[in-house]
Amino acid sequence: MKTIIEPFKIKTVEPIRFTSPEERSRILAEAGFNPFLIRAEDVLIDLLTDSGTSAMSAKQWAGMMEGDESYAGARSFFRFERIAKDLTGFDFIIPTHQGRAAEKILFTLLGGAGKYFPNNTHFDTTRANIEFSGAEALDFPTPAARETASPADFKGDMDIPALERCIREKGRESIPLVMVTVTNNAGGGQPVSMKNIRETKELCSRYGIPLFLDACRFAENAFFIKKREKGFGTVPVKSIVQEMFSYADGCTMSAKKDAIVNMGGFLGLNDADLASKARNILIVTEGFPTYGGLAGRDLEAMAQGLEEVLDENYLTYRIRSVEYLGEKLSRAGVPILEPPGGHAIYLDAKRFAPHIAPHHFPGQAIVCELYLAAGIRSVEIGSVMFGRKNPSTGEFVPAPMELVRLAIPRRVYTQSHIDYVVEAVLDVYSRRKQLAGLRIVSEAPLLRHFTARFESL
Ligand SMILES: Cc1ncc(COP(=O)(O)O)c(C=O)c1O
Repeated sequence: MKTIIEPFKIKTVEPIRFTSPEERSRILAEAGFNPFLIRAEDVLIDLLTDSGTSAMSAKQWAGMMEGDESYAGARSFFRFERIAKDLTGFDFIIPTHQGRAAEKILFTLLGGAGKYFPNNTHFDTTRANIEFSGAEALDFPTPAARETASPADFKGDMDIPALERCIREKGRESIPLVMVTVTNNAGGGQPVSMKNIRETKELCSRYGIPLFLDACRFAENAFFIKKREKGFGTVPVKSIVQEMFSYADGCTMSAKKDAIVNMGGFLGLNDADLASKARNILIVTEGFPTYGGLAGRDLEAMAQGLEEVLDENYLTYRIRSVEYLGEKLSRAGVPILEPPGGHAIYLDAKRFAPHIAPHHFPGQAIVCELYLAAGIRSVEIGSVMFGRKNPSTGEFVPAPMELVRLAIPRRVYTQSHIDYVVEAVLDVYSRRKQLAGLRIVSEAPLLRHFTARFESL
């Protein structure tokens, strides 16, 4: 059969609330034109993030009843540890309550003034944790990543020549590790090829620098490798995952993505000394090393999710359902970041609303209009999130891309929900010339997009 279907049936449902255009207009103004400040019950289709918003399976819920809530040495930890080790091959698996807690521990230990952390593209929390330590976060996306309309297969790749120039310029001793984010979330959910991971590892090894993966979407990345990279078509996804991790010396993981849970994460390490220091910080900030900020039931759900995510029927449906949204939009002429990513479709706000200058946040204008038109919540990934002021001149430096991310929660929405989203985006696109930019009224010094308030111009 050609039709790709959801490889599950629905046992539990949760109602979603319809609001009137007048209600949404009031709600958006009260939220300072920032979708993070809207109550979830005022949202009809929530595409804010795919993080922690997945529907768990019956086996994951059953696992939660099996959770061993012992403070130390819980059975649930050892099941989770066994499965995570089998996948990643790392010697030490340190559970944390989510991805950024793993980042915080890692960069507290390795960061600090005068240190540099290159990545294909840092996500916002990774960048923030690095900068919070006093170090600098550097992005080296492959040049193809900047061409939003080109459909290259692996636009998440690291720009290896640029990485090598950076290592030579900054010096090996000031780069504690190189990171590769799979898939590249801030760069459009684009995958990284095995060839690129391998070559990045070779370069790092030549300079004696450890390679880490930001592994949140490891399974989606592996599935793209299977589908697009020569030589992997018949290799099981699990083996591809194991090969990806085999090139890394450690990882940070937000289990809220490809472990299909609502909360969880871990730090994977091979270096025994670093692992011992990390556990010391873990005990102070998260909890004892066999629970690390999580309940035993969370560890069970995470262990189960790490196995379920490798099911190739699930990954076929997952990647196809995102591609379906992208296909419908691009066929209707809506500019999206091509090709569709693994977990989200990114509208290209620069081409969608070229009349709005980056410092008036074209992406945020589209985000607001999608909510007003249809109760859909999305998120800007552009100059609200990554724009900054030049510290010496005070001049506004825009983000390299102005995107609106429509992130698809795992196993949550059906095809008719996605058809509704298509209709809403096409409606907003037909009225794009009337969209107005925004101005920031208040903002926090770090990760301002979460709490900033705006006014419409
Ligand atoms: C690539 C990437 N790294 C790190 C994180 C942080 O994970 P968490 O939200 O679990 O702290 C995210 C979350 O969206 C992400 O997409």
